[in-house]
Amino acid sequence: MSLACRIETALAAAIRKRQSALAPPRLAAALEYAVLPGGARIRPTICLSVASACTEDQPALGDAAAVALELVHCASLVHDDLPCFDNADMRRGKPSVHRAFSQPLAVLAGDSLIVMAFEGLAETGCAPERALRLLRILGRHVGMPGGICAGQGWESEDSIDLAAYHRAKTGALFTAATQMGAVSAGQDPEPWEELGARIGEAFQIADDLRDALTDGGALGKPAGQDHLHGRPNAVAQLGVDGAMGRFRDVLGGAIASIPSCAGEAMLADMVRRYAERLAPSVPARRGS
Ligand code: IPE
Ligand code: IPE
Ligand code: MG
Ligand code: MG
Repeated sequence: MSLACRIETALAAAIRKRQSALAPPRLAAALEYAVLPGGARIRPTICLSVASACTEDQPALGDAAAVALELVHCASLVHDDLPCFDNADMRRGKPSVHRAFSQPLAVLAGDSLIVMAFEGLAETGCAPERALRLLRILGRHVGMPGGICAGQGWESEDSIDLAAYHRAKTGALFTAATQMGAVSAGQDPEPWEELGARIGEAFQIADDLRDALTDGGALGKPAGQDHLHGRPNAVAQLGVDGAMGRFRDVLGGAIASIPSCAGEAMLADMVRRYAERLAPSVPARRGS
């Protein structure tokens, strides 16, 4: 089974598990709508790529880790689109959850997805010490003081440190992805932190470039948001060429940081393909 197929199968199963006859039907529908079909699934892909590079021996734990990362990510998008955050009408090429359902259902869908992520990790029944480590890593990278919540919280401060903001808002879940991949395969998480942090930083620079240079139709979500909301971003700070250069440097550093493991070459290849996929599309749209 391909990695993409493995991720979709595990996510669909996790959603199906919560579609009980006892569930409020509209909230159950909102959960499914928020997760399926998905976007790039980059975080679970990184997680399972690291697990496989570390010769995983507990695929059920890898599945739960990948699902948990994507569920938390989807929840963060549902909440991020709400009027009290970015007030975005579109996400992944369709109306955002609060537009398709309602604001109360979007708040509850995001909350439910976060809880599902942790429940799924607690329920695998295999390798309990690893599962506990996975729960801790996920918690640290979702909450306060350095997870997604902290990242979103920076937007309510008068002055924002761009590096700290991006590290928490976006980088945290990428660091969780590499570390959770390693832990699900029985390895220590620490050596994998730098790879996740660097991929996350590159991802955020590419996202800032797309936000500044692409039109919303092509993105499937509103563009120009950083400028609109006055948010610090890599393009405002470094300019387009500077941001492109930084993107390449950071991904070069990501490759250099890959810990020695059975799948080291495969991971370097994954990062290179990722760089190619994102980078050339940016300058092509300059000035359009
Ligand atoms: C978008 O993430 C939100 C940011 C962290 C910048 P993705 O670009 O990974 O979104 P999907 O999952 O592909 O829709
Ligand atoms: C998305 O962030 C939500 C989180 C990373 C928590 P952004 O607001 O920067 O990303 P988009 O442009 O809506 O996807
Ligand atoms: Mg936002
Ligand atoms: Mg947003």
